[in-house]
Amino acid sequence: MAEQTFSIIKPDATRRNLTGKVNAVIEGAGLRIVAQRRIQMTRAQAEKFYEIHKERPFFGELVDFMISAPVVVQVLEGDNAVARYREAMGATNPAQAAEGTIRKLYAESVGENSVHGSDSADNAALEIVQFFKPEEIVG
Ligand code: CMP
Repeated sequence: MAEQTFSIIKPDATRRNLTGKVNAVIEGAGLRIVAQRRIQMTRAQAEKFYEIHKERPFFGELVDFMISAPVVVQVLEGDNAVARYREAMGATNPAQAAEGTIRKLYAESVGENSVHGSDSADNAALEIVQFFKPEEIVG
């Protein structure tokens, strides 16, 4: 079933000019990039986006990292896009990520792990509206 998910190419990847290489893996996994924008996230945006993690010990570090350089926010579309993108990303910790996944190929650590992808279709919808207007998503 065609579905949408939300993706962020994180500062460690944009800093190393890996946007195109990450997008090649995304497209190779059968996902269409139907919206994309490079932004400098504000602290308020990052804190809201990661609100669910605010009690975690790494919250401050995570927010500081996400605003340390521009990110690329994206909407990806395809059959089972949420699960398909999670598979293409690989495990959160790059040391545990499978061969050929974005995190195995490019991530530096569990914190600086190159990409974010929604963990459910419900969360994808909530995340997409934080960064895109409906008319900006062109399928
Ligand atoms: P993401 O999918 O963006 O969602 C939450 C993020 O928290 C996760 O990716 C990691 O980048 C980050 N994270 C998870 N565990 C740790 C950790 N132990 N230290 C720093 N960051 C972490």
